[in-house]
Amino acid sequence: MIPEGRQSFDLMSPTQSRIAPLQDEVNRAIDDLLASFPDPDRLSFDERRGIIARYTAVLEGNFIYWMTAAYLACVSAEAHAIIHENLLEEVRDNHPGMLRRFATDAHAVPTDSDALAVYRSLQSVRLYVGRLSGVKIVLMMAFFEGWITRFMPYLAELAKRQGSAEYEYTDVHGECDVVHTQELFRALEGEMTLTPVPLPPATELLEGVGLLRTLIRSIVHNS
Ligand SMILES: [Fe+2]
Repeated sequence: MIPEGRQSFDLMSPTQSRIAPLQDEVNRAIDDLLASFPDPDRLSFDERRGIIARYTAVLEGNFIYWMTAAYLACVSAEAHAIIHENLLEEVRDNHPGMLRRFATDAHAVPTDSDALAVYRSLQSVRLYVGRLSGVKIVLMMAFFEGWITRFMPYLAELAKRQGSAEYEYTDVHGECDVVHTQELFRALEGEMTLTPVPLPPATELLEGVGLLRTLIRSIVHNS
């Protein structure tokens, strides 16, 4: 059976059929991560605080920077238009401010030790982004948006248990990032169309997804 939103391989353009296995890989990585998260019932106040704080330490100052890197690295008009729209929404609607409010109301403003806990894996993603490969960064960001969307109910649950009633950040990102993820896969298609063949192997294209997975594990498991 063809998954919803996916075409039969016979109906796909050559670029779409190169993206489909990458999209499957991204979805599998997100499923694996979510399955590894601890049950909120078993977490103490400090453990819940730590997850929200480390998430905030990573996202607040880096999301727009990484999406800007994707914009700078891309060459296709399609990818530029899609990423421009994404950045516009982030800046215009003050998403970093929204996240800061979420963390503050959940008593989880990041501390020095929260920043230190994610430092090493964050640096690896920064170095990767600095190589400015359009296809690779867009694929990494499509994974990031997809994971963020599916992480929002968990994050909101942690905040609720911290006594917070501030859910604007989780509400907005649980909805808009579904569209953003689909759009980023369209941007990837635009970039791939302009990338000379043969493309690097999937393992190389997915390196950024692997680095982000490590970073997300540091956020959630403090490891
Ligand atoms: Fe955002």
